[in-house]
Amino acid sequence: MDLKEKIDKSKLPKHIAIIMDGNGRWAQKKGNSRIFGHKNGVKAVKETVEAAGELGVKYLTLYAFSTENWKRPKQEVDALMSLLVATINSETDALIKNNVRLLTIGDIDDLPHDVNRNLQELKEKTAKNTGLSLILALNYSARWEILNAIKNILSQTHKQPVNFENIDNDFFEQYLYTSGIPDPDLLIRTSGEYRISNFLLWQIAYTELYFTDVLWPDFRKNDLYHAILDYQKRERRFGKISEQIKK
Ligand code: FPP
Repeated sequence: MDLKEKIDKSKLPKHIAIIMDGNGRWAQKKGNSRIFGHKNGVKAVKETVEAAGELGVKYLTLYAFSTENWKRPKQEVDALMSLLVATINSETDALIKNNVRLLTIGDIDDLPHDVNRNLQELKEKTAKNTGLSLILALNYSARWEILNAIKNILSQTHKQPVNFENIDNDFFEQYLYTSGIPDPDLLIRTSGEYRISNFLLWQIAYTELYFTDVLWPDFRKNDLYHAILDYQKRERRFGKISEQIKK
């Protein structure tokens, strides 16, 4: 039986988030530039999107560019931005054909003009698609997202006071980029690093974490299946005890 067939379709994670890591090391191992690693990372993105869509996963969030990534050498940042535009353009038809809806989290208005414009266009073109929602985290910082939510709540209180008792999880989540999107069930990080790196800090409170040594450009459908099978072996208790879950 191949790995895909072992997956229990009734227990699929509804939302998978991925910290795609290891592009630079993958390229350096091959004696190539870091940019070569990012280019090959796009192949892994395509495979993962395809695999998630085929399985019936509803949301896939990919950490493509953090607010901290601006600190990388300009040449690498520019190459990543060009790669984004090129990938958007080359994949537009495939995303539409496969009923994928593109969403973004992060401050995309501060991305270079052409990147922002291409993203906005593709979001509009795919807005009515009902299959996989592919969420790209771009110019994203989880701490900024939380601080920004607080700022927006406070600025709203100037116009209309908020009752303290109404500030609960549901209320707060309306102010996050991910408003309306369920929390990730599974978070994958590649390349053998065990960090969250300022990604979805609020949303991963009860997310199952999966770390693999595979470097992102080598990540293929089978690696996603391994992660899902591992997830399916776990018991998610959300603070309760085992007996309460089995009821
Ligand atoms: C992390 O590897 C990867 C990134 C910061 C960029 C991810 C971008 C892509 C996979 C390509 C474009 C994406 C899309 C969605 C089209 P790293 O550079 O930190 O690797 P290292 O830790 O080995 O240095």
